[in-house]
Amino acid sequence: MATTANVCHFDRRGSRAHELESCSKEDKALSLPVTTSQKRPGQAPDNGHREQWRYAEGDINLSPERAQWQSEHVNDETQSVLDRDASVFMHQSLSTPCLTSLAECEGAYLVDEQGRRYLDFHGNSAHQVGHRNPRVLEAIKQQLETLPFCPRRFTNRPVIRLAEKLAELAPGRLNKVLFAPGGTSAIGMAMKLARFATGRHKTISMWDSFHGASLDAISIGGENLFRDGLGPLLPGCFHVPWPQEAGDADAIEQILTDEGDIGAIIAEPMRCTTVDRPPTPYWERVRQLCDQHGALLIFDEIPLALGRTGRMFCCEHLSVIPDILVIGKGLGGGILPMAAMLARDDLDVAEDYALGHYTHEKSPLGAAAALATINVIESEGLLQRATDLGRRAVSRLQAFQRNHHLVADVRGIGLALALELSYSGEPATGEAQKVLYTCLTQGLSFKVSNGNVLTLTPPLTITESELAHALGIVERAIVGVSTG
Ligand SMILES: Cc1ncc(COP(=O)(O)O)c(C=O)c1O
Repeated sequence: MATTANVCHFDRRGSRAHELESCSKEDKALSLPVTTSQKRPGQAPDNGHREQWRYAEGDINLSPERAQWQSEHVNDETQSVLDRDASVFMHQSLSTPCLTSLAECEGAYLVDEQGRRYLDFHGNSAHQVGHRNPRVLEAIKQQLETLPFCPRRFTNRPVIRLAEKLAELAPGRLNKVLFAPGGTSAIGMAMKLARFATGRHKTISMWDSFHGASLDAISIGGENLFRDGLGPLLPGCFHVPWPQEAGDADAIEQILTDEGDIGAIIAEPMRCTTVDRPPTPYWERVRQLCDQHGALLIFDEIPLALGRTGRMFCCEHLSVIPDILVIGKGLGGGILPMAAMLARDDLDVAEDYALGHYTHEKSPLGAAAALATINVIESEGLLQRATDLGRRAVSRLQAFQRNHHLVADVRGIGLALALELSYSGEPATGEAQKVLYTCLTQGLSFKVSNGNVLTLTPPLTITESELAHALGIVERAIVGVSTG
């Protein structure tokens, strides 16, 4: 049995056996989104490795494209708001300094202080029922009038109703629930529960994945942007490359066998930011390996659950049920912070310990928002809607792809859509930035993931014409960048 802390058995390409130090350095090189010798218009600035991998997660807040956009679109009054923001908030990647300042949101739209409207195809994956959904707002207002907060030691009916509803919706025996005020905290609870339940601390997770930005979550996460420069992370966190085919489960099997004491495998069933879904046989094999080796399977569905993929939970597309399911983001209706861990009932084994212990553990306000959100999804048929609109969007984008070589791949399931841009076989990182800022100018906001993937996650309430309008903006921006 290996005794080395933090051994990395598989690098991002799947090569075996490196210790953390060497692994981490090599991975930086392997994760670069651009490895080009050839300069082209729109390419990311070549300021060395660090500059390049910063592009790996999203549009960075100090890029020349951002500065250019702001010089053209931000007026003096908004600039003074941005300056106040930048002087009072800690600066951090992907956040402060900010792009511009928002004044309102409604349905599929964000409105900035200058009255510019953006279709929100990002929404941090929290806006399944649209911004300021009237039914969610009404439920929150009613709850505010009676019991907005519940201190520890007490319970309340809204949280019980929500826990019962989630247990009823979730597949299999996932009917023990714990709430948390955010996804990262819920991931931490799942990691702790796996340790209590198995008596083992080791985990296997995926390179390039994101499970939150706290120290425990980045230990299982796989993005340099979040892991670098922090010193030692949690021991025993093994990583494998993001799987492409069923055979990639061999990497998991090898670690399970070599170590003999892995407590949990943690992954998104589909990587939401890149809409990358390992084939079902991969997950079937991982499920079987977990059972064989006594490890728990934890699915992180924080951005996917509650309808994004056209099913309430993404794992319903697989014939695989995890032992622990973590959800969040849209659970609070895009208004309140709410997350949950749903676990198999026989994993209720930690009554003498604290798994979560969060001040807002039993928030009646959050529960009211979540119950209303689920009600909107069910009563307005949003799962079917996401499936139908998503199918049409994918076939439109695939037709576009056939004549536009910058688009290397189109992926989609429900209303999780992605276009991967590449140029001469390389990730088109700079082009993706340019497409983003062109789209923002035309009134569409979305996320750029992995440097070259345009991730489109509209509200499930989006109208057909809003969706068609947004796709037209993306297509025209790609044409402009390809020919410009
Ligand atoms: C897959 C995944 N896991 C965990 C998290 C962390 O959730 P939160 O930001 O609510 O803490 C996120 C957030 O983006 C996520 O996408």
